[in-house]
Amino acid sequence: MRLVLLGAPGSGKGTQAARLKDHYAIPHISTGDLLRAAVKAETALGLKAKAVMERGELVSDDIVLGMLEERLSESDTASGFILDGYPRNLAQAGALGEVLARIGQPLDVAVQLDVPTDLLVERIAGRAAQEGRKDDTPEAVRTRLGVYNEQTAPVVDFYREQGKVTCVNGVGEMDEVFDRIVTAVAEATD
Ligand code: AP5
Repeated sequence: MRLVLLGAPGSGKGTQAARLKDHYAIPHISTGDLLRAAVKAETALGLKAKAVMERGELVSDDIVLGMLEERLSESDTASGFILDGYPRNLAQAGALGEVLARIGQPLDVAVQLDVPTDLLVERIAGRAAQEGRKDDTPEAVRTRLGVYNEQTAPVVDFYREQGKVTCVNGVGEMDEVFDRIVTAVAEATD
């Protein structure tokens, strides 16, 4: 199973990917997690990405693609993967298509998690209070939502044109959303 999870900040991509990874026994690849690990380790890449992430803007396509290609070249991706946070714009969607064609692992399905904006903001505020993620400040969240609407939302249409999108209601209990995703993926890949 080769799956992309799409959705606005706070829509539940990371939450659901952690469950889907166990369900399908495939790795969860989050570009946000990879970048946060690089920031924490203070690698050259992390030092470049830190301020951009804290503002809620996108890290450069080149940096993220290089990081993703490296991760996809690891042996645990042979049976598939869940991509969370990539692609983030049309250029990244095109680049991903090329990489996957080159390694002979075309995408099976793109799952779009739909959650209304007021609930996204509420969820992220809850996480900010608990975890203090640096980009969960009200200002950075506004930027992240704007970036999503302008740059990432068109990626849904990109996959729709390829007949690969399935939309899932992301509102409700986490288990309930998980069940919806598994059902939608089964129908889309039947
Ligand atoms: P990234 O880490 O990808 O963050 P994001 O897309 O903004 O998403 P979030 O992690 O905020 O939300 P999520 O959808 O994963 O929801 P979650 O499950 O956590 O990216 C961060 C930054 O890295 C970017 O801004 C950018 O700078 C950079 N970056 C990453 N990828 C990049 C790329 N490809 N190109 C360039 N730059 C890139 O849930 C959120 C909260 O809601 C949690 O507290 C959770 O417990 C709660 N929750 C989830 N589901 C439910 C539910 N059903 N009911 C109640 N609460 C729920």
